[in-house]
Amino acid sequence: MTEWLYGEDGYYATYKNIGKEGDFYTAVSTSKFFGGTIAKHIIALVDEGFLQSDATICEIGAHHGYFLADVCEFLYTLRPELLESFHFVIIERFDDLQAQQNRYFQESFGDAVKLTHYKSLTQLQCKNAFFIANEIFDAFPCELYYKGKTARADEHNVEFDVDNSWVHEKAKLYNKDRGEIALGYEAFALEMAAAAETFEFMSFDYGEMVARPDFSLRIYTKHKVIPFFLPQDKEDYKPRDELFAKSDITYDVTFAHVKDAYEAAGVEFVELKAQMVALIDMGMLELLEMLQKNVEEKIYKQELEKAKMLILPDFLGERFKMIKFRKQ
Ligand SMILES: C[S@@+](CC[C@H](N)C(=O)[O-])C[C@H]1O[C@@H](n2cnc3c(N)ncnc32)[C@H](O)[C@@H]1O
Repeated sequence: MTEWLYGEDGYYATYKNIGKEGDFYTAVSTSKFFGGTIAKHIIALVDEGFLQSDATICEIGAHHGYFLADVCEFLYTLRPELLESFHFVIIERFDDLQAQQNRYFQESFGDAVKLTHYKSLTQLQCKNAFFIANEIFDAFPCELYYKGKTARADEHNVEFDVDNSWVHEKAKLYNKDRGEIALGYEAFALEMAAAAETFEFMSFDYGEMVARPDFSLRIYTKHKVIPFFLPQDKEDYKPRDELFAKSDITYDVTFAHVKDAYEAAGVEFVELKAQMVALIDMGMLELLEMLQKNVEEKIYKQELEKAKMLILPDFLGERFKMIKFRKQ
């Protein structure tokens, strides 16, 4: 998975189109009101005294940069002085993507927003921060586990014949006799804990606190979902070497694993809730009401339809979640 996504020609190593023309949608390419709602929440944190007016606002794994740019746009509308006083940061390992994000910020804001890039959280040192991420925990590499054995990839075949006690212990902890065990959450949580003296971190991802034991590893290609272990006689089957590095690969997040990693790093777990509930609690509907009062009916309806897509999947039984942590 590391090679598939992050190798030299890996899927995320170069700029790809996420959205209508790409392989998959994420909430950030759906509606501006996702970032808008986060801006409203950031303002609430300032009013509550948790965030200072010179805080660092940092997105991790921003891809196009749409999400943080939407946050900036709504800050400009709701509390413009914060656009000048906050420090905006993106953590992005890949040069191509940094360049794309710079281009998008320049096109959107000219010099009104100063954006700083770091390749890793280890390069950031600040006093007070708000960290935001969308769909990154499902993009960490993982081990595959099946009844006591960890998988080994032999070319594109998978053999379950490795004894790995770390993976075995995690599998026991999260009640998985089979499934994915993420790699890197522990180091990532420690890096974030060391990057800021006080912070709130909010992340949106797909999964469960503890999911039923099964494989969820799947490949997204041109808006088609292909289970990684799909048998060869099934209609959508494609040899893995044809999909390798050209398509996205992901799996359901076990949020208990994320929570344990952050707690071990000394960061307090605040809550896990459905994305729909989180966005409504943070004031998405009030923002839509403001829009309705300020624009023509036709524009309002267009935006409303897009914003509905942020909460509709939850109604339909999908499992998009928000997880929140604080270090104070
Ligand atoms: C599914 S994409 C989501 C992109 C974007 N946030 C969105 O919602 O459209 C996952 C992104 O997370 C990034 N990522 C994964 N692990 C990361 C890590 N440890 N540090 C920084 N970025 C990471 C990947 O490079 C990729 O850009």
